[in-house]
Amino acid sequence: MSAPIDPEKNTAKSTATVACNNSPHNATTNPVQYLDPKSQSRRDFIQGTGVAVVASATLGGVSFESARAASPDTPSATLTPIAITINGQVHQLQVDARWTLVEVLRDQLNLTGTKIGCDRSECGACTVLMNGKAVYACSQLAVWADGADVLTVEGLAQNGNLSPLQQAFVDHNGPQCGFCTSGQLMSATALLQNSPSPDANQVRAALVGNLCRCSNYMAIVEAVVATGAVTGAAVAGKPDTPRRGLSV
Ligand code: FES
Repeated sequence: MSAPIDPEKNTAKSTATVACNNSPHNATTNPVQYLDPKSQSRRDFIQGTGVAVVASATLGGVSFESARAASPDTPSATLTPIAITINGQVHQLQVDARWTLVEVLRDQLNLTGTKIGCDRSECGACTVLMNGKAVYACSQLAVWADGADVLTVEGLAQNGNLSPLQQAFVDHNGPQCGFCTSGQLMSATALLQNSPSPDANQVRAALVGNLCRCSNYMAIVEAVVATGAVTGAAVAGKPDTPRRGLSV
């Protein structure tokens, strides 16, 4: 685990669990693959993240800690122009250096399908795909996402039709209260794009960073396995089919 939190000195925003190594600016030196079922558990992810936070005081010129430490009531002196492709649409935005990606998605773009649960890299409710990888959007500064390709839960359905994975969640009663569902869907989408026909253990490992307070894990795993059984078979029949962007 990362270093213990001293409640006298730390706030929720200043814990060592923020996923600074998820930054796309860091991708070439330390790509995060925390949802890779072959290589890392949730504990591995958190441990690695804690080390990376210590080692990476600043990323892309802006540190998560310093950016978030400023009082939210104090207007930022400047806004930074960024361009993010979200669900296939390019957005030109002016963002405060303190804003996280999930705040921009929800508050600036009204993409409220991405949820905020813990707001500190623990629950997975805020999971989105950034450049094809699952990341916690609560732990990404929006300025880090400049130039990135982001997929949110709103981008899964096509032409009004649920994706096969979304339909499988419905068929297998994957959502209970539903609050974690969008994050579960995004992590499962990342898994299926890389492992088209995962077994139950692979699904459990891939979704280890997505908590469900209803404890509906069995149904969620069933839904993902069932999706892979169908869409994975389709991919197996078309070996040249690019997996990234595959509708799952
Ligand atoms: Fe981001 Fe919980 S809200 S991990």
